[in-house]
Amino acid sequence: MKPLHRLVRMHIASVGVSKFCFLLSLAFCGLLLLLIPALQPSARQVDLPHPRPQVRPSQTGQLHHVGLRAGSNHDEETDSTRGLKRSSAGQGESIDTDVIRKEKPDPKRGTDPKTGALLVRKPNGLSRSRTQDPLQLKDIFIAVKTTKKYHKSRLGLLTQTWVSQAQEQTFIFTDGEDKELQKRTGANIINTNCSAAHTRQALCCKMSVEYDKFIESQKKWFCHVDDDNYVVLPSLLRLLSTYHHSQDVYLGRPSLDHPIEAAERVKSDGSVSVKFWFATGGAGFCISRGLALKMSPWASLGNFISTAEKIRLPDDCTIGYIIEALLEVTLTHTHLFHSHLENLQKLPTDTVLDQVTLSYGGFENRRNVVSIVGGFTLYEDPTRFKTVHCLLYADTDWCPKLKARHKH
Ligand SMILES: *[C@@H]1O[C@H](CO)[C@@H](O)[C@H](O)[C@H]1NC(C)=O
Repeated sequence: MKPLHRLVRMHIASVGVSKFCFLLSLAFCGLLLLLIPALQPSARQVDLPHPRPQVRPSQTGQLHHVGLRAGSNHDEETDSTRGLKRSSAGQGESIDTDVIRKEKPDPKRGTDPKTGALLVRKPNGLSRSRTQDPLQLKDIFIAVKTTKKYHKSRLGLLTQTWVSQAQEQTFIFTDGEDKELQKRTGANIINTNCSAAHTRQALCCKMSVEYDKFIESQKKWFCHVDDDNYVVLPSLLRLLSTYHHSQDVYLGRPSLDHPIEAAERVKSDGSVSVKFWFATGGAGFCISRGLALKMSPWASLGNFISTAEKIRLPDDCTIGYIIEALLEVTLTHTHLFHSHLENLQKLPTDTVLDQVTLSYGGFENRRNVVSIVGGFTLYEDPTRFKTVHCLLYADTDWCPKLKARHKH
């Protein structure tokens, strides 16, 4: 049994220890309180360099459509609504709304005063206006798909018209040697060595070469068109300027009003099917460099041909499959691209020059052309491409002089 005085002394000692601990923690809390204001600014500084969430292409796409309303038709409005539905159903929704919330408070600063389109912001937070860092025509790689049979008839018209304004960045992909064409056009002619047959294999072979040449070119945008397309270069530049080439952007006209369904034979054994949208090749489409680089495992160095063989679909569908089904990036639907499969006469005359691509003809309809009035009659210019060209570039030497037309 312990003596009483020892028990009392132990109790006093433990009280002394807990008192000391109490005072020590008080001092520590006081020190912390003093340090809080000093710590706060440095914590905020750490937050600042975080990259802003990227503006997703589907979203800027809608805003762009809104911006171009002046030169649009009814089709485009339904188009932009569809884009909205699609993007809100897609992944990364929270990022989308976050960006919208951030951009909204100051509409004057965040939007282009002319078109009302949202200016694309770089990850470092600097806004990219057309005056600061404008996209130039030389940044775009334009691939024209043709075949030897059309070197004279179709390519002659293109090299006389829009290709003459974009010689350095236009690449003509064909299937036969033609020294004369090279001399005549001054454009870049690439013999793909692919078959001249209009088969899925031959078309995919050409697309595969187009893809590889684009990657090699270091240009910012890949645009594919057919040899019966007129490219309205100012409109193309305006459209692509609303996006950034490092974003995932796939722009074009869907050929159907619903997604295509195919058996999934790349990621699985083909027992499940996959639904995806694709841009119709006959109207032309564009892909940003950022997205094109991501396509590489399924598109580069002949992989495009094996991907197309696996899913047994044409070249433009395969592009859509790689982007939408494999990379899960959505097609930005635009009705500014046109193929010969549409009724081109329905396009309002005052919007023709605002379109990105035009076409003519069709299987049985030679008179399927855009309605536009200018320096040439339908007989002189059955495709209307010369008329469009002279309205865009009036000082071209072969264009009828404006003065002469107005003289009586
Ligand atoms: C096509 O073949 C020629 C001759 O063999 C070759 O020089 C050229 O590089 C080939 N083209 C492509 C795109 O591979």
